[in-house]
Amino acid sequence: MKILAIETSCDETAVSIIEAKGGTKKPLFKVLGNSLFSQTKIHEALGGVVPNLAKRAHSQNLVPLLLQTLAKANLGKKYSRTKTCPIAVEKKVKKILEREGDLATQFLAELCAIKPPAIDGIAVTSGPGLEPALWVGINFAKALALLWNKPVMPINHMEGHILSSLFEKKQLTFPALALLISGGHTELVYMKELLSYKVIGATVDDAVGEAFDKVARMMELPYPGGPQISKLAEENRLSKRNQEKVFTLPRPMLKSNDYKFSFAGLKTAVLYTLRKLPTLTPEVKEKMAREFEDAVTEVLLTKTKKALLAYNPKTLIIGGGVSANTHIRNSFEMLIKKEFPTISLIIPERSLSTDNALMIAAAGYMRNILKKKIPLNFKANGNLTLS
Ligand code: KG4
Ligand code: ZN
Repeated sequence: MKILAIETSCDETAVSIIEAKGGTKKPLFKVLGNSLFSQTKIHEALGGVVPNLAKRAHSQNLVPLLLQTLAKANLGKKYSRTKTCPIAVEKKVKKILEREGDLATQFLAELCAIKPPAIDGIAVTSGPGLEPALWVGINFAKALALLWNKPVMPINHMEGHILSSLFEKKQLTFPALALLISGGHTELVYMKELLSYKVIGATVDDAVGEAFDKVARMMELPYPGGPQISKLAEENRLSKRNQEKVFTLPRPMLKSNDYKFSFAGLKTAVLYTLRKLPTLTPEVKEKMAREFEDAVTEVLLTKTKKALLAYNPKTLIIGGGVSANTHIRNSFEMLIKKEFPTISLIIPERSLSTDNALMIAAAGYMRNILKKKIPLNFKANGNLTLS
């Protein structure tokens, strides 16, 4: 089965095509095409993601990315004679894409000229995320579904982060626990079986990625701050100099008797500590990045360990953009090796930890895209939860 997937929930525009087989028991994915446009440069100057700029960039980039992905997958054959869309289709496409800027014009000019590709369905992120951004992807997917007469399926972005683990060589066995750490989410999810989710704890305020980004901004580091903090902390960890600990940040909710997280206080503690200093030297930045990363990691490890002991899963998955962090990855590997050697740890490779469309394609396959034709009236839901 070939699945086309589209992801536009935040500031990455991504399009993928996978060939999937093996069913839900032994899924096996072959990547036929995978394209991603990162909007970092657009949002960098403004210090964070601006929803309307994200929406505009998605609508400008979806058609080129799709054509690129189809070409890679060898599925973008043009008609031998120039072909335009039938008037009825054109009208409907224009209606579906009426709020998406120039997307309808680009869509009609470029996509009516190619033959319907041999795909079995389209998977698209419908939430959670920035609604204006989500809508672009959804409407694009709906217009494609109409043009090519294919089923389209809405996918939960967080389910995508969990199922990106299916691209790794290790088998996903149940029950499983997932720690999701991204720009908008921090949650521990228990999975009794495939596609069943129970959120056992989440952040009560900021998400961990959000805290990374805000702390980075306080230290005058460019957006997105997570990788910047990670780089500084790593430099400090590896260097022999500058090891004396001068900052001590709190480890919020470390001892609370639940699986909740809180990162707003930690972020504020960084702010107050920095305010007391006369200047923000490279040395201060490096040490603060290290202590912040250490504090976050300790909280994530402690809470996850508590959940592992209580739920006794066979697999632990770490997903979401923050799981690209080297120290967090290494710390979890160490924890599992030392204290839970029978648990299989799956942390997707870095390009699959951060936002991408492959994970949406995998989720589309697991939800079995072919079984039912989903009505085209599904909506974007910025606050969609796992259920
Ligand atoms: O999953 P993701 O790509 O997008 C959302 O769904 O939110 O996660 C983005 C978040 C950002 O906050 C970014 O700063 C953070 O992941 N991030 C990192 C690293 N790489 C990305 N945080 C810490 N260390 C990293 N290496
Ligand atoms: Zn994400």
